[in-house]
Parts: sequence; C-alpha cells; structure tokens
Amino acid sequence: MNLPTRWTKNTLLFGGIAAWGLLLISCVSANRAVLAPPAVPGAQFAGSKSCAECHADHTAHFATASHARLALADPKVGDTGCEACHGPGSIHNKSGGAKGTIINPRRSPETCFACHLDKRAQFSLPNSHQVLNGKMSCADCHEVHKGNAIAGTGADLEGQNATCTKCHTEQKGPFVYEHGAMREGCVACHNPHGTINAKMLVARDANLCLRCHLEVGDPGSSGQINANAIRHTAENHNTRLMQGTCWSAGCHEQPHGSNASFHFRN
Ligand code: HEC
Ligand code: HEC
Ligand code: HEC
Ligand code: HEC
Ligand code: HEC
Ligand code: HEC
Ligand code: HEC
Repeated sequence: MNLPTRWTKNTLLFGGIAAWGLLLISCVSANRAVLAPPAVPGAQFAGSKSCAECHADHTAHFATASHARLALADPKVGDTGCEACHGPGSIHNKSGGAKGTIINPRRSPETCFACHLDKRAQFSLPNSHQVLNGKMSCADCHEVHKGNAIAGTGADLEGQNATCTKCHTEQKGPFVYEHGAMREGCVACHNPHGTINAKMLVARDANLCLRCHLEVGDPGSSGQINANAIRHTAENHNTRLMQGTCWSAGCHEQPHGSNASFHFRN
C-alpha cells in the first residue's frame, strides 16, 4: 500500500475519518506523521499563522506542545498544526469565528480518536472515565496547546498526580502514613483511561501489590531480602488472600495512605 505521509486537501476525497482510521492503524507505528484531520464541509486549510490573529493566547506557546512536533504542513499555507485537531479553518477565518465553523474537540473525542484509535477501545472498557458520553474530555487530563500533553512526564511526578487529585481530592492526602507507591504515581495502580477491572485497577488481585512487594516472608526471618516485603508468613498470607484481596475489609483498606495505621488499615 502506498500511503501518503502528509495529507493535502486531495486526501480528504478519500472519504471520512473512518476510512482514515483504518489506514492509520496500519501505518501509525511506521510513520507518526500520517494524519487524519477532521473535516469541515467546504473549508480549506488556512495555516496556523492565520489563527494567531485572533487566538494569540493559543498560538503563543504552541511551539512547546507535544503535537507541534507533528510534521504537518500544507504546501500552500505552511504549518497546519492547529487544524490537525480543529479541522480546516478557511470558513471560520472569513466569518470572523462564526459558530459551527470549526471543530472544538472538547465536545467530542472523535477528533482525538482519528489519530489515537486505540484510546476508543480503552474508554469502552467496563471501568473507564466517562469520556465517550461527553461527561469528561481528554482535555481534562491532557494539555493540548502548550508543553507536554502528559503532565509531569519526566522527573515531575507530583505534576502527574495533580492531574488526578484536582478531582479526586480524597486521594490527595497528605496522609500521616503515605503509601510509598504514591510516589510512582496514580498510574502505578490505575489505568487513567480504563480497564476491565473494578476501580480501573491495572490488576484485580494480589498481583497489583506483588508488582512491587515481591517477597512474602516473616519480618523476623532471614528470608526477607526486600525492604518492601509483605510482612506475612507465606502461610498466613495465602489464608488471608483466600478471603479476598490485599485491600479487602480488615486488611490494607486504605491503599493510598492512612492517618491511623502504618499498614494502611482503618
Ligand atoms: C478573525 C478572527 C478569527 C480567526 C482568524 C480565527 N478565529 Fe477561531 N474564533 C474566533 C471567534 C470570534 C470565536 C468565538 C469565540 C467565543 O465564542 O468566545 C472563535 C472560536 C474558535 C474555537 C471554539 C469554537 C467552538 O465551537 O467552541 C476554536 C476551536 C477556534 N476558534 C479555532 C481557530 C483556529 C484553529 C483558527 C485558525 C485556523 C482560528 N480559530 C482562527 C475568531 C477567529
Ligand atoms: C491536539 C489537538 C489540538 C491542537 C493541535 C490544537 N488544539 Fe485547540 N483545542 C483542542 C481541545 C481538546 C480543545 C478543547 C479544550 C480546551 O478548551 O482547552 C481546544 C480548544 C481550542 C479553542 C477554544 C477554547 C475555548 O476557550 O473555547 C481555541 C480558540 C483553540 N483550541 C485554538 C487552537 C489553535 C489556535 C491551535 C494552534 C496553535 C490549536 N488550538 C491547536 C485541541 C487542540
Ligand atoms: C493528527 C493526528 C493527531 C490528532 C488529531 C491528535 N493526536 Fe495526539 N498525538 C499524535 C501523534 C503523532 C503523537 C506522538 C506519538 C508518539 O510520538 O508516539 C501524539 C501524542 C499524544 C500524546 C502523548 C504525548 C506525549 O508526551 O507522549 C497525548 C496525551 C495525545 N497525543 C493526546 C491527544 C488528544 C487528547 C487529542 C485530541 C484533542 C489528540 N492527541 C489528537 C497525533 C494526533
Ligand atoms: C483521567 C485522565 C485522562 C483522560 C480523561 C485521558 N487521559 Fe490520556 N493519559 C492520562 C495519563 C495520566 C497518561 C499517562 C499514562 C502513563 O504514564 O502510564 C495518559 C496517556 C495518554 C497517551 C500516551 C500513552 C498511551 O497510552 O498511548 C495518549 C496518546 C493519550 N493519553 C490519549 C488520550 C485521549 C485521546 C484521550 C481522550 C479520548 C485521553 N487520553 C483521556 C490521563 C488521561
Ligand atoms: C475532571 C475530573 C477528573 C479527573 C481529572 C480524573 N478523574 Fe477519575 N473520576 C472522575 C469521575 C467523575 C469518576 C466517576 C466516574 C463514574 O461514575 O463512572 C472517576 C472515577 C475514577 C476511578 C474509579 C472510581 C470508581 O468508583 O470506580 C478511578 C480509580 C479514578 N477515577 C482515577 C483517576 C486517575 C488515576 C486520574 C488521573 C490520571 C483521574 N481519575 C482523573 C473524575 C476525574
Ligand atoms: C498502590 C496502588 C494504588 C495507587 C498508587 C493509587 N491507587 Fe487508587 N486505588 C487502589 C486500590 C487497590 C483501590 C480500590 C480500593 C477499594 O476497592 O476499596 C483504589 C481506589 C481508588 C478510587 C476509588 C475510591 C472509591 O472510594 O471507590 C479512586 C478515585 C482512586 N483510587 C484514585 C487514585 C488516585 C487519584 C491516585 C493517585 C493520587 C491513586 N488512586 C493511586 C490502589 C492504588
Ligand atoms: C508501585 C509500587 C508499589 C505498589 C504497586 C504497591 N506498593 Fe506498597 N509500598 C511501596 C513502597 C515503595 C513502600 C514503602 C516501603 C518502604 O518504605 O520500605 C510500600 C509500603 C507498603 C506498606 C507499608 C508497610 C511496610 O511493610 O512497609 C504496605 C502495608 C503496603 N505497601 C501495602 C501494599 C498493598 C496492599 C498494595 C496493593 C494494593 C501495594 N502495597 C502496592 C510500593 C508499592
């Protein structure tokens, strides 16, 4: 298959986003510059420069945004990074910003799915944030106009947890006894998009905890080599697990942290 690496207005004749989506699956890993811009009937690409005239606040820092790195240009108008998400802007520009002339992805994640098709599947899983029905937006967690689209990527983990704790204040703490896992971020245990497990956990049973607490041994025994070892004897531990998960009632009920117990119990 001979796939275009850049789109032109002609590529729109190929059909709608759905057709593009299919093309994308096969080539997205090979060439990240392949794009599926949303369509605005009758409109043509005007270029990002034209947006600056009226939306200087959005264009000012766009060069630092993750998506600004996309190789995206139209031979006639140059850089079209804005229109990759908002659709071609000629009609919008001429009308001075009339309603209904440009796409606002806050209303629907379809624009994002055009390039991130796998995310539609994640948000369709039984336990997921309510993005598909429009109650939440990708933009609640991702900054699209400046800087890194994933907050706190790199050394700044506090930033990434802040993405979540602005809504989930209960998990924010501070706790007298904070679980060390929180330093690795909420995503150590939760998939932010969705999973098949309750509470969007990345694993539904003891495996969640054993990812970090590998050793199961008696604290007094020389068999305990890991500082994070779960302090149960193997036998005691197995009996408990038959009764539920590590965070079942009576066990580590406060996996985020506790003000009462070093072992995160109530
Ligand atoms: C001539 C001025 C002008 C230009 C040029 C312009 N816009 Fe707008 N735009 C507006 C106005 C006015 C609004 C409505 C603002 C409001 O409702 O607060 C608007 C609204 C928008 C919205 C929100 C639409 C909605 O339905 O919520 C988006 C997205 C947008 N513009 C993107 C762009 C992009 C991308 C470009 C460049 C291709 C662009 N604009 C160029 C004036 C302009
Ligand atoms: C990766 C996709 C993406 C790109 C690229 C992008 N935007 Fe947006 N834009 C969004 C999303 C999502 C929203 C809605 C969320 C929000 O309001 O922050 C939005 C909202 C807007 C709005 C409406 C804001 C409001 O208050 O209603 C304007 C205007 C806008 N973008 C202009 C631009 C301009 C200009 C560029 C290029 C410099 C650009 N966008 C690039 C995704 C994008
Ligand atoms: C025109 C195609 C396109 C559209 C539309 C698009 N993206 Fe992207 N996005 C990309 C590409 C390409 C990358 C880079 C992926 C890579 O390098 O692995 C990316 C990366 C990302 C990343 C990861 C950034 C990072 O630092 O690793 C996030 C988050 C993201 N996009 C969210 C969104 C959201 C939210 C929307 C809708 C508002 C959106 N994207 C729309 C193409 C697109
Ligand atoms: C509840 C917050 C939240 C929402 C809503 C959300 N994301 Fe994310 N997303 C994240 C976090 C946090 C990460 C980083 C995950 C990690 O580091 O393991 C991420 C990672 C990503 C990535 C890069 C890594 C990957 O999995 O490919 C992409 C692309 C992405 N999100 C796209 C989207 C799109 C598209 C939407 C909307 C349809 C969306 N996200 C909605 C929080 C969210
Ligand atoms: C804009 C607000 C908002 C942000 C930001 C947000 N969430 Fe949520 N989250 C919600 C809402 C609302 C629900 C309840 C959804 C429902 O009822 O289905 C929820 C549900 C959850 C649940 C499942 C709770 C349950 O009872 O099943 C988990 C776990 C979760 N979020 C984790 C996260 C993580 C991790 C992040 C950051 C990556 C995050 N959330 C960011 C609003 C948010
Ligand atoms: C060590 C793993 C771990 C980490 C890290 C973690 N969580 Fe959780 N979280 C859990 C477990 C386990 C549950 C299920 C508890 C239950 O069912 O009682 C849960 C439940 C939740 C719930 C649902 C609460 C309820 O009452 O139903 C939300 C919301 C949540 N977590 C958000 C977060 C946020 C936000 C962060 C980061 C600040 C985070 N979690 C970090 C393990 C973790
Ligand atoms: C991302 C890694 C990670 C995950 C996943 C994780 N933990 Fe932890 N946990 C830690 C770290 C780090 C510490 C701090 C250890 C230290 O200071 O020695 C800790 C400490 C603890 C402690 C404190 C008592 C002690 O013996 O040190 C308990 C109890 C605990 N975790 C239970 C759990 C449970 C239950 C789960 C599953 C819901 C879980 N952990 C998942 C990393 C993790």
